Amino acid sequence: MSNPESRAFSGIQPTADSLHLGNYLGALVNWVAFQDKFECVYCVVDLHSLTVGPDPAAIRERTRRTAAQMLAVGIDPTRSILFVQSHVPQHTELTWLLNCITGFGEASRMTQFKDKSSRRGSEGTTVGLFDYPVLMAADILLYDAAIVPVGEDQRQHLELSRDLATRLNTRYGEGTVIVPEPYIVAATAKIQDLQDPTAKMSKSGNPGGILELLDSPKVLAKRIKSAVTDGETEIRFDPAKKPGISNLLTIYSALTGRSIDAIVQEYQGKMYGHLKVDLAEIVVEAFTPIRERTEQYLAEPETLDAILAEGAERAGRIAQQVYGRVADRFGLLPPRRHTTSHASA
Ligand code: TRP
Repeated sequence: MSNPESRAFSGIQPTADSLHLGNYLGALVNWVAFQDKFECVYCVVDLHSLTVGPDPAAIRERTRRTAAQMLAVGIDPTRSILFVQSHVPQHTELTWLLNCITGFGEASRMTQFKDKSSRRGSEGTTVGLFDYPVLMAADILLYDAAIVPVGEDQRQHLELSRDLATRLNTRYGEGTVIVPEPYIVAATAKIQDLQDPTAKMSKSGNPGGILELLDSPKVLAKRIKSAVTDGETEIRFDPAKKPGISNLLTIYSALTGRSIDAIVQEYQGKMYGHLKVDLAEIVVEAFTPIRERTEQYLAEPETLDAILAEGAERAGRIAQQVYGRVADRFGLLPPRRHTTSHASA
C-alpha cells in the first residue's frame, strides 16, 4: 500500500443471500476491473446493514455469502484487500470524530435518510440510520482512498464524504485526509427490473424482476422468458418508449461486450421470444461459473474466513495509521503502551 493517491475503496452491504445482475454489472464488474488500475480495498459493510435491523443469523450468513460472491466474480485477495467492516474497529472510531464535525442539518438533508425515515416514522427510525452516511465517510477516509466507485444513488453520500474531508483539512491542516473522488458507474450498465422496466433492478423490487447470481439456470431462464416487454414486435433500443426490450438489450450488450447497435442489427426481423431465448443462454453461461465458485467457498468456511482474516489484518494496518493521524490532529492524547512507560522509568 505504497501509493495512496491511487487507492480505491468501495463497500457493499450484506443484505441479500444472492447478489443480482444489477449489483454485478453496476458495481462488481467495475470493482474487478479497478484492480488493474488501483490499489483496491473492498469491504463487506456489515455495520451499515445493522441500520435495517436484520436478524443475527441472517447477517452472519449473508456476510459470508457476500464475500464469497465477491471472490467468485474475480476480486483477487492477493492483489486487493477484501475484509469485513466490523473486523476493523477504526471504522466506528473515526465515525465518532466525524460525527463531531458533521452538522445536524447537513445530515438531515440526506435524501436516502429522508425517504427511509419518512416511511418508518420517527419512532421507527434509529440514530444509526441517521448516522449511516457518516459511517460511510469514515470507511472511505480511513483508507486515504482517492477514488470511490459507486452507483448514482450514492452520489449525495459521496458529496458528504468530500465535504467532511475538506472540512478536516481546513480545520486541522492540509494532509489530514484525502478528499475522495466519486466514480459513478456509466448509465449503459443500468439494469432495470424485468417485471417493471421503468424501475431499477433491486432486491426490494419484484421477486420475479431480478436475476440473482446464485439462481439456478431454470429460474434464470424463466425470469427472462416472463420479462415484461411491449405490444410491438420490433426489436430496437428506445428506453423511453420500449423500456423492457431496451433493458434486455442492455443486459445482452453488457454480458457479451457487443454494442447495442450490433445486437439490434442481428435481431432485425426476429421475434422477442428469439432474443429472450438467446439472452437466457448468455445469462446462464455468465452466472454458472460464479455460482459454482461461490458454492465452493461456502462449502469451505475456514478458507473463506482465513481470507477475510488476512484482509482485516491488512486493512487494519492502514486504518490504524490513518486513524492515529486524524485523532492526533483532533488533540486526542495518543495511547501509550504500558510497558514503554515502565521501561523509561
Ligand atoms: N452505502 C453504500 C451502498 O448502499 C455502501 C457503502 C458503505 C459504501 N460504505 C461505503 C460504498 C464506502 C462506497 C464507499 O451502496
